[in-house]
Amino acid sequence: MDEATRLQYLQAMGIDVWVPRHQADSEPMATETSPTDSHHAWTDLQHQVSQCHACELCKTRTQTVFGVGNHHATWLLIGEAPGQNEDLQGEPFVGKAGQLLNEMLRAIGLDREQVYIANMLKCRPPNNRDPQADEVAACNGFLQQQIALLQPKIILAVGRIAAQNLLKTQQPLSRLRGTQHQLDGIPLVVVHHPAYLLRSLTEKAKAWEDLQFAWSIYQTV
Ligand code: URA
Repeated sequence: MDEATRLQYLQAMGIDVWVPRHQADSEPMATETSPTDSHHAWTDLQHQVSQCHACELCKTRTQTVFGVGNHHATWLLIGEAPGQNEDLQGEPFVGKAGQLLNEMLRAIGLDREQVYIANMLKCRPPNNRDPQADEVAACNGFLQQQIALLQPKIILAVGRIAAQNLLKTQQPLSRLRGTQHQLDGIPLVVVHHPAYLLRSLTEKAKAWEDLQFAWSIYQTV
């Protein structure tokens, strides 16, 4: 396999490829942001999130849950909001749903470390209630900045609430899955929330179909 094809395969799998500086210099830059600028931008944004008091959820959170993963990831997964475990540990999808999400990713050959995982809301709603419109609006700027910094090739909206809010629709998940949507020009695919995997074999099969569909879309971008 020649070098260019090898790099293409690795990139398609979302694996970072480091090339010597002289080689990188001879190729056009994908963006004008240097790695140091980008690192600062992520750190600044995380700091802003940690200080946020834009909505009432700041009063009940243990800590903010910024997001986690590879800053060069081509896959961005967006869930709804932190739950109890996430609020305690400061990382999205670390509870039971998180373990299942990791399994879902592995099913399509992706490791958690290769993707970036965030939630719409950075603070836990009390008793895991659904996010309110004003909370989503208050937090949206942070998510938009994460998307702008990452520039993913594909976004997975994880679960109905994330999908409906991101796509600004009330359509049920059954109508939203299996279709390629766009979020600011980035392909977006709706997948079942990992909690679905626990319910029944039929739901498991649907979640698997969602992932296969996402993978097929990714291969076209
Ligand atoms: N469910 C979500 O949508 N996000 C999390 O971080 C955990 C569970």
